[in-house]
Amino acid sequence: MVELQRPIIAHFAIPVFFLAFCMSHPLLGQTQLDYNFYAKTCPPLERIVRVGVWMAIKNETRMAASLLRMHFHDCFVNGCDASLLLDDTADMTGEKNSLPNRNSVNGYEVIDNIKADVEKYCPLTVSCVDILTLAARDAVLLSGGQYWPVQLGRRDGMSASEQAANQQLPSPIEPLENITAKFTSKGFDMKDVVVLSGAHTIGSAQCFTFKRRLFDFKGSGKPDPTLNSFLLQNLQNTCPSSSDGTNSKLAPLDSVTTNQFDNMYYKNLINNSGLLESDQALMGDSNSASMVDYYSKNPFMFTRDFAASMVKLSNVGILTGQNGQIRKKCGSLN
Ligand code: HEM
Ligand SMILES: *[C@@H]1O[C@H](CO)[C@@H](O)[C@H](O)[C@H]1NC(C)=O
Ligand SMILES: *[C@@H]1O[C@H](CO)[C@@H](O)[C@H](O)[C@H]1NC(C)=O
Ligand SMILES: *[C@@H]1O[C@H](CO)[C@@H](O)[C@H](O)[C@H]1NC(C)=O
Repeated sequence: MVELQRPIIAHFAIPVFFLAFCMSHPLLGQTQLDYNFYAKTCPPLERIVRVGVWMAIKNETRMAASLLRMHFHDCFVNGCDASLLLDDTADMTGEKNSLPNRNSVNGYEVIDNIKADVEKYCPLTVSCVDILTLAARDAVLLSGGQYWPVQLGRRDGMSASEQAANQQLPSPIEPLENITAKFTSKGFDMKDVVVLSGAHTIGSAQCFTFKRRLFDFKGSGKPDPTLNSFLLQNLQNTCPSSSDGTNSKLAPLDSVTTNQFDNMYYKNLINNSGLLESDQALMGDSNSASMVDYYSKNPFMFTRDFAASMVKLSNVGILTGQNGQIRKKCGSLN
């Protein structure tokens, strides 16, 4: 039915009519995502997003990592629905101020700016969640990583939940079994956990997220024994035990090729140079450790599998039709 109607709609070639039809038609609302979803309604979309991400990264290299993480934190909490982008209101405390996100997730203004550009060309046509999904893909590509085609047609969510963000996002100091359980509950397997963790080949983490490894690991009075001694010294200099004032200082997640999207993350883990406990924990389980070993030696398999797991991530709990909307601004509901 859907296949039959597409060409008929094309005859009219009136975007407003097409939009109204999509929004009011329950069957179309349930369609699968489509690579060409905005081909007629917003032809410059992918170029606008690519340029916006490129400029943001040119201004600040780390922004690539920040956009990739933002997409993960959106999708992992009640599905990919741009709920992360919603500002708090009088009757809703959203995800921006949850423990894992507050003073930690960056890049909201990059997505807001790209959205504003898209609105100029194609008003009320493209969802914020589709823009964020494309931006994360482009961030990886522009950091030297893999390209993958992105299917479009997601809709923006109508609510956000601070509590859901606190409960569902993984913590860097919880055990691997707990992290894996969180991923499993969303349809991922151990391979996805290992592969998606490879995102930590770019970007940075604040001292407080790994500091307990440096001085008094789990009450031992000593550093984490699974932390490379050379890296330990560097990190102790960056994050001295005495000073809480350094808790927000940054260390690279991959200290060898910090801004390059490659498989160095896995080589680092084999070298006991993972930054977060949750990173190095992948070596503490024989199943995940053998995958780490594999990806450290097979960069092409990593790029291929990373793309596949990202597609999976970008399809978690998506909304179509009446369940969502096309926001005018990403920070608030229409
Ligand atoms: C496996 C469980 C994961 C845990 C426990 C975790 C935890 C963290 C933590 C604690 C930080 C540093 C935050 C800060 O310092 O404020 C971070 C950064 C980052 N995470 Fe994860 N993460 C996980 C999985 C992922 C996944 C699946 C992705 C993407 C596919 C991802 C992408 C990133 C990126 C790119 C950064 C750097 C962000 C920046 O520099 O702005 N992480 N992660
Ligand atoms: C460029 O990056 C800096 C941080 O390095 C940030 O404060 C500034 O807002 C960014 N400018 C633009 C135009 O994105
Ligand atoms: C790990 O999960 C178990 C079972 O849900 C829970 O009891 C435990 O508190 C969790 N551990 C951490 C450190 O979060
Ligand atoms: C191992 O880790 C150290 C410290 O981070 C680093 O200097 C060295 O280059 C690493 N070796 C390999 C083979 O990656």
